[in-house]
Amino acid sequence: MDSLWILVMTTAVFLAAIILYRNNSRLRGLRSFHTSPVTLPLGSLGLPFIGETIEFITCAYSDRPETFMNKRRRMYGKVFKSHIFGSPTIVSTDAEVSKVILQSDAKVFVPSYPKSLTELMGKSSILLINGSLQKRIHGLVGAFFKSPLLKAQITRDMQKYVLESMANWSSDRPIYIQDETKNIAFQVLVKALINLDPGEEMESLKKQFQEFIAGLMSLPINFPGTRLYRSLQAKKKMVKLVKKIIQHRKNSEISKVPSDVIDVLLNDSSGQLTEDLIADNMIDMMIPGEDSVPVLLTLAVKYLSDCPAALQHLMEENMKLKRLKEQLGEPLCWSDYFSLPFTQTVITETLRMGNVIVGVMRKAMRDVEIKGHLIPKGWCAFAYFRSVHLDESNYDWPYEFNPWRWQEKDTSNCNFTPFGGGQRLCPGLDLARLEASIFLHHFVTQFRWVAEEDTIVNFPTVRMKSRMPIWVKRTGDP
Ligand code: HEM
Repeated sequence: MDSLWILVMTTAVFLAAIILYRNNSRLRGLRSFHTSPVTLPLGSLGLPFIGETIEFITCAYSDRPETFMNKRRRMYGKVFKSHIFGSPTIVSTDAEVSKVILQSDAKVFVPSYPKSLTELMGKSSILLINGSLQKRIHGLVGAFFKSPLLKAQITRDMQKYVLESMANWSSDRPIYIQDETKNIAFQVLVKALINLDPGEEMESLKKQFQEFIAGLMSLPINFPGTRLYRSLQAKKKMVKLVKKIIQHRKNSEISKVPSDVIDVLLNDSSGQLTEDLIADNMIDMMIPGEDSVPVLLTLAVKYLSDCPAALQHLMEENMKLKRLKEQLGEPLCWSDYFSLPFTQTVITETLRMGNVIVGVMRKAMRDVEIKGHLIPKGWCAFAYFRSVHLDESNYDWPYEFNPWRWQEKDTSNCNFTPFGGGQRLCPGLDLARLEASIFLHHFVTQFRWVAEEDTIVNFPTVRMKSRMPIWVKRTGDP
């Protein structure tokens, strides 16, 4: 009897200890599977309500945007807590921690965007949805953008738009690379998404789109006259245009060989993709695609202007291909562009240094433990790629534009994530690289140039302060 009593008591004490430990562990810091303690990262939540947002933005605007991160990395380590954009946030500048954030599913992390942005995108946007529907749309779009068929079409379209644009360049006025590339990339994107050719409708769409994205970082107040309201009105007009295109496709035979993303989504047989969802998503997909590619192209021109050795190497590689194709009497195809190793390293190095997308934000759906760091439920996790890409322990002389470093380095590792990773890895990645390759090829084989002084601005998006003016001379000209 005594021994039974002792057993019951011991079990009760043991159970109570487990319950007590579990209840307290959230406050003290969790304990991981292993033996290392799990704690809330060090750091400061700053001032009430605004937190550290003002310091973050001030640094982001300055010519040393990493000061905010570097200061905290020195004080607290690569993962620290802060309070930015209205939410307590765990900032990760640690590649391994960011990798786990990116690879986690929606039970653990969901995308987190400013309220104005979520209002503009709508509930069914690929950028916001989770689970099987996101996987489905992501898979369909990603596969289409990777298909040789689309690459061949994009190559034809892009070559046409690039050559048309460059035909108007002359040596007696500055050429604003940022504007030129924005125009070209928009045409390519719209062609790939909804198969619209340049013309009146395209111009109107471009105008509406500019109006639409002007509201992305606005105050989330929606009534007539506000910025958000005007942006939503612009989106309505664009959705109307896309719906007209969808109706037209539905009335004619839907092509089994898709010519654009609308076809791809209309061909889907799951029954999950309604007309409204497709139309909304065509516009929402322009958000990540519209600005990123022109920024990539503009930065490549900037870095090449500052690095004559890289420019020379790039030019020689591209001239060689051009001459070969002329001798064979063949046009360039997409695989030719991807076959240029140095051109690819120039693009890779531009992505590393330029950090077109500085990082991604997620919201924790439950307490999460990564490498001993606690990310509490409801907090944001900010996987900040820029610090990883410019960390000297990952890259020697990280602020030096050095495409040659990629001749021995592999791009598929967690220290290089310009396109994110996991389930939300950018589906437009191949498209972006192809566009960059085509633009650079025609640019360096047709022109020599002198760049005017200009500086990179990193907030709210990366761009050149003066739109990157250059003075060009055609290679054949005296
Ligand atoms: C230099 C060019 C580009 C860069 C650096 C870039 C970067 C990124 C990054 C980092 C993400 C992940 C966002 C996240 O995890 O929350 C992403 C997602 C996405 N990108 Fe890109 N992108 C580029 C070009 C494009 C293009 C041309 C398109 C074409 C439409 C595109 C479409 C998308 C879409 C639809 C998503 C959302 C995927 C999802 O959430 O399932 N991107 N991009």
